[in-house]
Amino acid sequence: IGAALKDGPLNGKRILVTSGPTHEPIDPVRYIANRSSGAQGAALAAALRDLGAEVVFVTGPADVPPPSGVDVVPVQSAQQMSDAVEAALPVDVGVFAAAVADWRVASASDKKLKKSRDGLPTLAFAENPDILKRVSHMTQGRPGLVVGFAAETDDVINHATAKRLRKGCDWIVANDVSPATGIMGGSENAVVLISEDGAEEWPRMGKTQVARQLADRIAAALVG
Ligand code: CTP
Ligand code: CA
Repeated sequence: IGAALKDGPLNGKRILVTSGPTHEPIDPVRYIANRSSGAQGAALAAALRDLGAEVVFVTGPADVPPPSGVDVVPVQSAQQMSDAVEAALPVDVGVFAAAVADWRVASASDKKLKKSRDGLPTLAFAENPDILKRVSHMTQGRPGLVVGFAAETDDVINHATAKRLRKGCDWIVANDVSPATGIMGGSENAVVLISEDGAEEWPRMGKTQVARQLADRIAAALVG
């Protein structure tokens, strides 16, 4: 592991992967975040690397370490992730596996909020940039293939199909993260690959296996 295969099918391709959660500061010691281990994004970056791609891995503060042999760009907030993605372009493929916080605290405090001073704090929110949507709608220099992710808790295929159209991406990798599935935070995943051709349900398998199959599909799409 580590070095890209010199003659892999993704040799010469530059691929961006976003991964992990983002942390949106409330004050210097507190933040708001989505639940995400970063495991699926890291596995995907490793699988793309193993097929010979040059991988730019833009990652929020994840539980799992980034894979070796990729260009790691660590970020904290959605705004920082957006800036890092901008800086990484142009790429042949963009894979957006990060669990980006939809909102940030409108005016984060530069001093720690104190419990006793003014009673309960009230947080006002501002909307974060939608990184996937922006890249999908680029008129110049759009990646040839844009892949989004969708973690849903109900009606997965319908929600994710609508999301693909709303975001303007080519594929959505959707999964059911309702607590009963036990997928959130685990080592397995059961995904549905949604494209203009419809929804393809994959059997439940390890996240590494999901990553390998997705990487193979990406390689096949670039050839075809
Ligand atoms: N995404 C992004 N930037 C954001 C929010 C989401 O790039 N600010 C990307 C995620 O990385 C993922 C996809 O968009 O690939 C879908 O994220 P999701 O949270 O499911 O979509 P939303 O449009 O935010 O819808 P929801 O209201 O269900 O959260
Ligand atoms: Ca969201």
